[in-house]
Amino acid sequence: MTKKRVLSGVQPTGSLHLGNYLGAIRNWVAGQANYENYFCVVDLHAITVPHDPTVLAANTYTVAALYLACGIDPNHATIFVQSHVSAHAELTWLLNCITPLNWLEDMIQFKEKAVKQGENVAAGLLDYPVLMAADILLYDADLVPVGDDQKQHLELTRDIAARVNYLFARNQPPILKLPEPFIAKAGARVMSLTDGTKKMSKSDPSDMSRINLLDSADEIRKKIKRCKTDPIRGLVFDDPERPEANNLLGLYQVLTGQTKEAVAAECAEMGWGQFKPLLTDAVIATLEPIQQRYHEIMTDLTYLRGLLKAGRDQAATVANATLERVKLAFGYALL
Ligand code: TYM
Repeated sequence: MTKKRVLSGVQPTGSLHLGNYLGAIRNWVAGQANYENYFCVVDLHAITVPHDPTVLAANTYTVAALYLACGIDPNHATIFVQSHVSAHAELTWLLNCITPLNWLEDMIQFKEKAVKQGENVAAGLLDYPVLMAADILLYDADLVPVGDDQKQHLELTRDIAARVNYLFARNQPPILKLPEPFIAKAGARVMSLTDGTKKMSKSDPSDMSRINLLDSADEIRKKIKRCKTDPIRGLVFDDPERPEANNLLGLYQVLTGQTKEAVAAECAEMGWGQFKPLLTDAVIATLEPIQQRYHEIMTDLTYLRGLLKAGRDQAATVANATLERVKLAFGYALL
């Protein structure tokens, strides 16, 4: 039986954090042997908000190296850079022309990010989800493992694929495959360390709000020591009045691989002073081996570049075939 295909990606903006790992990359690693995987560094998405050209390439290598360091195995996965496969930009244009503008204006992430940009909102920010749809649809992906915040973009991807099929292949075999979101329950929404009602985010101006995958043990200790809590003794999940307790217990649960019930029982009588060192140890134990592998990989950029070149070639073969199929369906004169 052929394996189902998985595609996902991370933007090379800012530094990757625990949310990116627990919501996405960790799940890619866990399932990789069961699927045919494509993991992309989405550098075209990275310029939808103002960016610094002097760090884009370095961030791109960092993300690719972190994929490997987190446990992505090149024997199971094609790792590549989005801008290296021009079909992503080309399919985006074709999809742009059949995507109703109001579908894009409804996207929560666009509205949130647009507010932050003030007057300086690029057309690319509105178009971000169409590029993401192109990423996914080019590979006929069956499953897209992401964090909870990407759910609406995946629904839009399905709507765009269905619209192409409806417009250009009614009563015929579909042109594009409708992907399924794959959002694991635990870790799908890691919250900020400074505000348990806000998502942990690369773009939060305060570095204290997140644990970066490359933070030193000292930084991790400091961040958890100072993170927001509440004055109540006895730590519980799911109390709407205690978002920080819910987030920090949830983190501890995923990092230690325990059940929710076991963590609830362990922490029911604890105060923060007792809990925080346990959480700190669990974070450090998870990140230390990743950091060690990351530094090893970064000493051999030739290897990394070679891997990305091979990834580009493999990805382009699949993506170009889909692009051609879509162009044919749209009525283009192909030679
Ligand atoms: P990005 O780089 O913002 O996020 C990468 C992945 O991390 C997840 N994530 C989180 N999960 C849990 N808690 C958090 N606080 C948290 N913050 C981020 C995101 O859900 C995502 O899975 N639009 C995508 C990038 C993308 C993509 C794609 C993904 C572009 N094309 C095609 C899948 C398929 C994004 O949000 O990247």
